Amino acid sequence: MTAAPTRTGPSRLEVVVTPDAAAASAHVAELLAAAVEAGAAVALSGGSTPRRAYEQAAELVPDWGGVEVWLADERCVPPGDPRSNLRLVEESVLARLEVAPRLHPVATQLVPEEAAARYDAELRAVGLPQLVLLGLGPDGHTASLFPGMPSLAVDDRLAVASEAGMEPLVPRVSLTLPAIGRAAQVVFLVTGEGKAEVVRRAFAAAPSLEVPASLARSATGATVVVLDRAAAARL
Ligand code: 6PG
Repeated sequence: MTAAPTRTGPSRLEVVVTPDAAAASAHVAELLAAAVEAGAAVALSGGSTPRRAYEQAAELVPDWGGVEVWLADERCVPPGDPRSNLRLVEESVLARLEVAPRLHPVATQLVPEEAAARYDAELRAVGLPQLVLLGLGPDGHTASLFPGMPSLAVDDRLAVASEAGMEPLVPRVSLTLPAIGRAAQVVFLVTGEGKAEVVRRAFAAAPSLEVPASLARSATGATVVVLDRAAAARL
């Protein structure tokens, strides 16, 4: 594994390249487990990549009793729907725990704007996540912040409703860029050769509204990008 700090100072970007997807998941699981042990509030993303890391984090630390768990984004579908990020977290994390965290689902039964307003209010009342775990879509999106969408410009709210820029094409609720930026640790998990070019655009090119992940950075802490060798091929 290689760790190459590409920026230093109060806000750091660290790129960690692991040999394969299993090692990338294991690395992220350790970061997540350490945050949970420290009692940090965490926000988890959906998608297919993080499932194994979530399972391993729950196996490493089965007591999440002291922790608030948020969703970095949610698809506005009923809770049991296979596309639901809540369902992913329930299956991969909650089902493995001895002590459950305080989980903050998005109120997907409401219209997305109302669900986002309610999530924003809850985040303000309870406190923002200190670790935000993100993925990277092939179009450069992260959480549910899609290229060129108005949600990228929102700077006075912590959660926002957004249209989906790609499948599944259902309305979304997402943390905003400022909410993500206030986390002490922003962790990306990205694997596979199919993501190599978008990884380059997100982490080794100028920040751009066309690549929302290039704008998702911890403002004062660390942004840690955990990749397998295939995803890092164009860095
Ligand atoms: C979502 C996600 C999204 C995801 C990326 C990567 O709910 O859709 O939070 O931002 O992280 O699309 O998804 P994969 O891991 O499936 O490639």
